[in-house]
Amino acid sequence: MEDRRRFEAIRGVVVSGKGEGELYVNLYAREFERILGFRPYPGTLNVRLLDSGEVKRRERILAEVKPLIIPPPRGFPGLSVVHCYSARLQGLEVFIVEPRIPGYDRSVAELIARDYLRGTLGLRDGDRVEILVALPREA
Ligand code: CDP
Repeated sequence: MEDRRRFEAIRGVVVSGKGEGELYVNLYAREFERILGFRPYPGTLNVRLLDSGEVKRRERILAEVKPLIIPPPRGFPGLSVVHCYSARLQGLEVFIVEPRIPGYDRSVAELIARDYLRGTLGLRDGDRVEILVALPREA
């Protein structure tokens, strides 16, 4: 069937985080695999959104999309549910992940993917990127 999804761009720059992404992606690895259908590269690519307007856009766009819902890993009931939003980064399949924790910082988009994105796409800190978020198909 024809892919009639529309995509909306969220713009930002690649940044480094605190190195916590690897730990969390590994903790949720089985859940991601079960629900997304692949085991993600252990880490998150962080994209700092350009400005507060872009953060509002992110919130508006993602509110239109039904996320995939990842439960906390077995044995870690204290960890949050994670919402995943299908997107593309330079043609590659990625997901924006949002842990459902109070005060989560939405000025940075955290991406997971099967691929090591820095390697596959040759990305470095400071590079401008567009995350294309898949919107629901038109009725
Ligand atoms: O938090 P930090 O950005 O330091 O690292 P991380 O989440 O532990 O991820 C390890 C490294 O892999 C970082 O440089 C990420 O930007 C990168 N990464 C990537 O290129 N592609 C992914 N799918 C996930 C992480």
